[in-house]
Amino acid sequence: MKLFDVYSLYDIEPVKGKGSHVFTADGTDYLDLYGGHAVISIGHAHPKYVKALSEQVGNLGFYSNSVQNSLQERLAEKLGKLSGYDDYALFLCNSGAEANENAFKLASFTTGRPKILAFGKAFHGRTSGAVAATDNPAIRAPFNVTPNVDFVPLNDIEATAKALSTGEYAAAIVEGIQGVSGIHEPTPEFLKALSEECKKNGTLLILDEIQSGYGRSGRFFAHQHSGIRPDIITCAKGIANGFPCAAVLIAPEIPAKKGMLGTTFGGNHLACAAAIAVLDVMEEEKLIENAANVGEYLIDELRKIPGVKDVRGRGLMIGMEVEGFTGSELRKKLLFDHHIFTGGAGQYTVRLLPALSLSKEEADLFLSEFKKAISGNPAEA
Ligand SMILES: Cc1ncc(COP(=O)(O)O)c(C=O)c1O
Repeated sequence: MKLFDVYSLYDIEPVKGKGSHVFTADGTDYLDLYGGHAVISIGHAHPKYVKALSEQVGNLGFYSNSVQNSLQERLAEKLGKLSGYDDYALFLCNSGAEANENAFKLASFTTGRPKILAFGKAFHGRTSGAVAATDNPAIRAPFNVTPNVDFVPLNDIEATAKALSTGEYAAAIVEGIQGVSGIHEPTPEFLKALSEECKKNGTLLILDEIQSGYGRSGRFFAHQHSGIRPDIITCAKGIANGFPCAAVLIAPEIPAKKGMLGTTFGGNHLACAAAIAVLDVMEEEKLIENAANVGEYLIDELRKIPGVKDVRGRGLMIGMEVEGFTGSELRKKLLFDHHIFTGGAGQYTVRLLPALSLSKEEADLFLSEFKKAISGNPAEA
């Protein structure tokens, strides 16, 4: 059997990881400023994470959501405490798209309304509802086209207020910081106005913190820089450092009803053990503060480099363009000539989404190789 050929792959295979480094079978060391697409949050093969998962799989890897699972309670308690949302309820599932599907369903059940309002250039996933709310017709099959999703431009409060005033929308969904679009932020003024307009019109506000969440922006959630409190928050990617796990945080005003949501794998024992270990390490090693500090340093230094344009983002969620390079040219050069993994977005943007444990020394190593790459100088031997 062949693999279904949907991914453009680099000709490289990491077989081992440690912190912010990955290694190929011949032992070559690559600095990881990509984290496997914002998924590695506490670093590769963190010893506490390895221990927690190994012990859990040795005890009980899985049982269904028909019995007590105190790991889910422990995760909910810890997440509530660290995020500042201890009065919210937690629903666990397996991927970002699934978290958003559940958020839409919940909003629709709660309000009795069918429609979702999304924003220009948004990315919310590839399953049916999530891809309908993603502003990219190229990845939307005819089956996914629906009159139940409308888009207005990000940061356009007039268009948003006008749409919401129709009273048709169960929810509006917005990313804490847009990731796939190339790192674009809703302004704090926009988020505040959006939150008010949602309240005024009986629409629930969903914050998609799948890429911008869990510390990456230098706060637990990116929207916390704006001081708003959404009705539903969706999380995935880094929350279990690579073990498939996603979370929907639900405001206390939204009532649960038996059977309204459900999943086989969501909240399983291994996923919970991984997610608890991530929160423990984030707290013990002060990784949110680290993301804020190292991120600010990286952004400041990148802005000083001639030829680097429009450095965007917060914390360790950074996008930029470089004169004379397409994003894919520069990423290839960084990877194959300088042994640095980075991410891309669109034609020109390079994205940095490293582990939140990236050290200042590793940031300096990146900056020095990055300067060589864009000035055409060879990598260090
Ligand atoms: C903001 C955002 N939402 C949703 C998703 C979808 O997550 P998943 O690929 O886990 O379904 C992504 C993935 O990149 C994302 O960046």
